[in-house]
Amino acid sequence: MEILAKSGSPFTNKAFTIGVATSSFQIEGDAGNREKCIWDTFCEQPGKIADASHGLIACDHINRIEEDVAIIDSLHVDAYRFSISWPRVIRSDGTVNHEGLGFYISLLDKLAARNIKAYVTLYHWDLPQYLEDKGGWLNRDTAFAFAEYVDIVTKAFEGKVYSYATLNEPFCSAYLGYEVGIHAPGLIGKEYGKKAIHHLLLAHGLAMRVIRKNAPDIEAGIVLNFTPFYPNSTAEKDLKATQLAHDHHNDWYIKPLLHAQYPALINEIPVSHRPDIREGDLAIIAEKIDFLGVNYYTRAKVKDDGGEDPYQLPAPSDSEQTAMGWEVYPQGLTDLLVQLHRDYTLPPVIITENGLASDDNLVAGEVNDEQRIRYLTTHLNAVAEAMAQGVHITGYFVWSLLDNFEWSLGYEKRFGIVYVDYATQQRTLKKSAKTLQRILEVRNEMSTSVSSHE
Ligand code: FCB
Repeated sequence: MEILAKSGSPFTNKAFTIGVATSSFQIEGDAGNREKCIWDTFCEQPGKIADASHGLIACDHINRIEEDVAIIDSLHVDAYRFSISWPRVIRSDGTVNHEGLGFYISLLDKLAARNIKAYVTLYHWDLPQYLEDKGGWLNRDTAFAFAEYVDIVTKAFEGKVYSYATLNEPFCSAYLGYEVGIHAPGLIGKEYGKKAIHHLLLAHGLAMRVIRKNAPDIEAGIVLNFTPFYPNSTAEKDLKATQLAHDHHNDWYIKPLLHAQYPALINEIPVSHRPDIREGDLAIIAEKIDFLGVNYYTRAKVKDDGGEDPYQLPAPSDSEQTAMGWEVYPQGLTDLLVQLHRDYTLPPVIITENGLASDDNLVAGEVNDEQRIRYLTTHLNAVAEAMAQGVHITGYFVWSLLDNFEWSLGYEKRFGIVYVDYATQQRTLKKSAKTLQRILEVRNEMSTSVSSHE
């Protein structure tokens, strides 16, 4: 991570934001003071979560807000990316939960007092269950309900937010949640995924218009996750399968946002799988964004194994892997960014998530997560390389601040730079956090002395 502090590094420029990220359901707990969300329901279903856990307590962040903000501050980061829990803010009868809203207002005030920029994500997968009961993201009305919720929070947060992201990884909401069923709400069916994503993207576009009205000076955009796909061989059929994987899993999400159209593949999928696109929808979806958030973890190799879908191979056995079994492949981040830059006229890009899970242990008060330090360093280098190749990148966020509820894998996978002992809720800075802390301190000193000579 030395690259962060080195003179001449792109990251010493004060305009480049370094931050840490979390999301509401994964850390907040305090479930009694909000409505139920689709993840609560999903967790109640046997067999859905690897360790049979839930988000009712999680990191107990709501009750430990002072300590957690102090930890963020101690890291010397510029920014904190977190999400708002829709079911904590809007009750099932449509009224505002002022206590819930008040929590976020006080969090924003605490961040401001410490000069930490607030990057607010408006939806990180915790759809109110009362909306799922009416069809969730398969119901077009959910997009309009989202815009109403965004109207309420953006008015309430006036002057307190640095950056808004409408949705986090709509691919996961739509594909994992409504097509393959490994995420909440757990629906399975090819006819659902593309319909759900259309409504999610519509929700994004409608929300962008609300943000422009209520917070015209605040940067606003969306966060997508991408997997760069590589053919397993040069055989024509593997090349085709790779392109198909890209069209389904990457292009399907970015193309409507930037080009107001879905990939041509839409004409080849069965009519029953296609979304209900109404007149004007694509113009709403393609509302101008100020930034594109990119989440990157790994790559995938693809082969045509004769099945209906492109087959994504597991990480090669001779590769370095994370505790998720994901290949460590920093070059993929450079390749991805350069490819997006080649295919699209991109707005400024922010790396909104990057990090890894490792089997961390607390030994004598310390967590020696060397693999994480290596991972973050090599991926920051990959970002710098993409910048050198002309991609405009303005920030980088580590996933995650804390170990937390890793969705269908429960608490078994630790992504934090801060270790959480779930029995006591004690937080311990891992070696990666201490390294980041030290390096950012140097960077901040350097940039202060540079700016005082300007
Ligand atoms: C991303 C999610 C985030 C976390 C990381 C590991 O897909 O946005 O909540 O689960 O993966």
